[in-house]
Amino acid sequence: MEKIDVEKNTGNLYSDCFSFLTEKEWNYQGEVLAELICLKADSVENKVCLDAGCGHGALTWQIAEKGAESVYGVDLKPTPKEIKFVGKEGVIKFIQSSILGLPFEDDFFDFIVSTGVLHHTFDTEKAFSELVRVLKPGGKIILGLYGKHGLFPYVLSLFRIFTVRVPLIRKKFIDDLIKSFKFSPMQRYQILDYLYVPVLRRYSPKQVMNLFLINGLKNPERIFGLSSISAKEYRKNGTVYTYDSRTLLSKLLFGYGFIVFSGEKSV
Ligand SMILES: C[S@@+](CC[C@H](N)C(=O)[O-])C[C@H]1O[C@@H](n2cnc3c(N)ncnc32)[C@H](O)[C@@H]1O
Repeated sequence: MEKIDVEKNTGNLYSDCFSFLTEKEWNYQGEVLAELICLKADSVENKVCLDAGCGHGALTWQIAEKGAESVYGVDLKPTPKEIKFVGKEGVIKFIQSSILGLPFEDDFFDFIVSTGVLHHTFDTEKAFSELVRVLKPGGKIILGLYGKHGLFPYVLSLFRIFTVRVPLIRKKFIDDLIKSFKFSPMQRYQILDYLYVPVLRRYSPKQVMNLFLINGLKNPERIFGLSSISAKEYRKNGTVYTYDSRTLLSKLLFGYGFIVFSGEKSV
């Protein structure tokens, strides 16, 4: 598939999925993401921040809540939940663009985060170096990518043969099935996301570490923001990414899990 088609189909799929999240789920999703990446006020307070591939904008909101001077949410499609951003108009700015060519000058941001995005782009390495380009020397970057292995990803890859590679099973058919089984909007989003997003790559922690090193970032380290206890609480509310990747059960089901790394741009 051409880059232009990947971006068009990806943007349409997600804006459709995010439009059916309830406000409560939207809030939980923001909270769980903030916890997963260990978002602290001192990283963003009075800083210029970027949420690259912000999607629903729930994490963008959390960054603004923690005192950012400004936070730019960039995505292929506008966020569907503008209503939530009332009162933060001067702080949150949404920009429709591909992160493969960001409309910002070099060294623009103090803090950049991107969760669950780069593995869906046409080129993960190019997208990451583009993020590093717009990060100020001394600035901090946090990246969340899908990890390799685990029962769940293996089963999904089998399904994706029939949904993406040889598209025999239509999205509408799966969506009608999901609705008839009364899955929650968040589960509906997650199933359609995994089965129909055009590009989905998975990484090992070593590969993510290398991505940081080849881009000259300092102090790269893996972050485990979500404890088992808090993961369990979120799970009760049907929120996604809610497992502690260090437990044996998570390793069996999700392999490396959702890998989050942070690093700093050298001065
Ligand atoms: C799985 S969602 C993640 C949303 C949010 N960051 C989160 O963690 O919940 C992936 C998002 O990345 C966006 N995306 C994918 N490729 C992109 C690209 N090349 N440029 C900008 N956004 C992109 C999609 O439109 C979608 O909103």
